Amino acid sequence: MYSLSSDKSNSSPPTREGGVFGNSIKINNNSEIYHGESENIIPTLEDNSIDLVITSPPYNVDLGDNKFNTNPYDMYNDNKDHFEYIKWLKDIFEKTYSKLKSGGRIVINIGDGRNGAVPTHSDIIQFMTRELKYIPMATIIWRKSQISNRFSWGSFQSPSCPSFPKPFEYIMIFAKNNKKLQTTGETDLTNKEFKEWAIAEWNIAPETKMKKIGHPAVFPIDLPYRLIKMLSWKNATILDPFNGAGTTGVACDLLQRKYIGIEMSQKYCDLTIKRINDIRPLSERDMFAV
Ligand SMILES: C[S@@+](CC[C@H](N)C(=O)[O-])C[C@H]1O[C@@H](n2cnc3c(N)ncnc32)[C@H](O)[C@@H]1O
Repeated sequence: MYSLSSDKSNSSPPTREGGVFGNSIKINNNSEIYHGESENIIPTLEDNSIDLVITSPPYNVDLGDNKFNTNPYDMYNDNKDHFEYIKWLKDIFEKTYSKLKSGGRIVINIGDGRNGAVPTHSDIIQFMTRELKYIPMATIIWRKSQISNRFSWGSFQSPSCPSFPKPFEYIMIFAKNNKKLQTTGETDLTNKEFKEWAIAEWNIAPETKMKKIGHPAVFPIDLPYRLIKMLSWKNATILDPFNGAGTTGVACDLLQRKYIGIEMSQKYCDLTIKRINDIRPLSERDMFAV
């Protein structure tokens, strides 16, 4: 059994060893998860060690406290002032920069707020490219093939104040220093996959089992699965600083990549450990958890 305290009042700074908030749990030989806040944990990671970041931060849409969603995050309050929120994301992705290898990539999945009236994706592109000097590589439209119940018509059948619900989200890809990978390796991408996924419009149904999984904002595994294959060699090291229920980690385990997740909620860390352990029978597991 492992034990982690979520007591943030602990005066010890986050370190990579010991038994306090901020430490990592090895799930198996290839996967580890940190219980803590990314702004504190990322600086403790090794410089130039990450090949690929795949992440979906909270969208700042008051998740859990609006008419579309009454299921909040365990620890996080999804209702910051928009500019505070953008500044906070910028701080985290600035800290991530030195951890990426040259030629490494960072992928951010996000949806805009208030039916597109809050252009979050565009603000992220601005600070990533202008202020943090990441190189823009691509923006993929994730078409969710459904509009769910998000019809909020503004002024119905009137030009007075219509609203435009979006049946899609953004998957934005940036590179550090060079768009070309600076490492060599083996790919597991098939000819068919490459041809289909190289088009910047992906039709993927949203995750429907969030309640069963136990997290309110999980992306479908197909999303990190495609990104991992399209953007990294086998055995690459992949980071998700907003781990959630660990979907990126599950995809990494399936695809033989090393995974580092960071999550502020212990409940979601536990979920992730269970999800990754459940992929393989006990006999194949490599249990390093203390
Ligand atoms: C949109 S969810 C990610 C879901 C994930 N992509 C999945 O499919 O499982 C965002 C997660 O970020 C976590 N979070 C928010 N602020 C954080 C921080 N400062 N450091 C680490 N995790 C944080 C939340 O608890 C939440 O679980």
